[in-house]
Amino acid sequence: MHITENQSLQSYNSFGVAAKARYFTVIKYDDDVAELVKWLKQHPLLPYLLVGGGSNLLFTKDYQGLVIHIALTGKQVVAEDTESTYIRAAAGENWHGFVLWSIAQGYAGLENLSLIPGTVGAAPVQNIGAYGVELTDCFFQLEAVDLQTGKMRVFDHAACEFAYRDSYFKSVAHGGYLIVSVTFRLLKKPQWKMHYADIARQLGNQVPTAQRISTIVISIRQSKLPDPAVLGNAGSFFKNPLVEKQTWLLLRASFQDMPAYEQLDKRYKLPAAWLIDQCHWKGYQQGDAGVYAKHALVLVNHGTATGEELWLLAQQIIDSVQEKFGITLEPEPSVIN
Ligand code: EPU
Repeated sequence: MHITENQSLQSYNSFGVAAKARYFTVIKYDDDVAELVKWLKQHPLLPYLLVGGGSNLLFTKDYQGLVIHIALTGKQVVAEDTESTYIRAAAGENWHGFVLWSIAQGYAGLENLSLIPGTVGAAPVQNIGAYGVELTDCFFQLEAVDLQTGKMRVFDHAACEFAYRDSYFKSVAHGGYLIVSVTFRLLKKPQWKMHYADIARQLGNQVPTAQRISTIVISIRQSKLPDPAVLGNAGSFFKNPLVEKQTWLLLRASFQDMPAYEQLDKRYKLPAAWLIDQCHWKGYQQGDAGVYAKHALVLVNHGTATGEELWLLAQQIIDSVQEKFGITLEPEPSVIN
């Protein structure tokens, strides 16, 4: 394990902000994990931060601790039964690369999650989701190292406490575990999720296949969301708020056009993009920090915006939505300040 000092994090966060890490290391091999545990024991007061693809992070200033970039690789089929195939992928694998690989091997289940930026290890942390599928739907278990004791622990589905863009690792463990690999359970008889209007329209009369749905999802995402390699961003910057039915009824009385989606728990999910759009933020720019012109939920870095500037813009958006609708938006990415 090699540690560098004052490392630029610009290429380790998809916003492309120019923050630095006091200490930085890359975890590539299993031995690196053991060495990391030792190093952390020797530096008990130093904060540390686990980073995969950096696609769900906003650094508002330099990081005064150790940034740990997970780059463990490898993927393989590990088991099979009559109904399912079990595939394990190392945490540092690129998520979209892994999805394409699984489709090329003839497996279905991950196609709706095509083109989501980030790594396999980060995917369960915020329970990534898109077009009617969440990671939780195809998750079997994950393997993680307790960074205090160095012991490996297997987390089954229930132990991960998945919720909308949330999990045990995000809400409780706060980086206490380094996810080493994730095992997926993919059904041999696929259950296609095609109810999103854009998917249904583009599929038309064609027979669904994982490959076709993946291609459609990629084209939808490319038409709506900016490519982080071209325009710095972290995908949706805010979570879609969940409100009780009573709140939704009150809001609907004042805003008849407000879309809302009833959830299994009877709460209503409101599209944050719509709320932000109603406050006229789409396409807004303040220096190099801005709101994407084609989607109100995405904050973008037009060049040299700092994390602080992007966070300031986010807070202005939160305030205006609060004022107009009485709803407090929550950021989806981890804001490091
Ligand atoms: N809308 C607007 N203005 C806009 C964009 C959207 O009013 O500029 C309204 C429309 O009414 C639209 C609704 O918002 O029907 C929802 O928009 P969209 O379908 O684009 O989905 P979203 O709720 O904004 C969520 C996820 C995305 C995921 C898509 C598709 C969250 C926070 N975001 O976005 O995930 O790709 O659904 O399933 O749940 C991400 O997490 O980074 C991400 C991109």
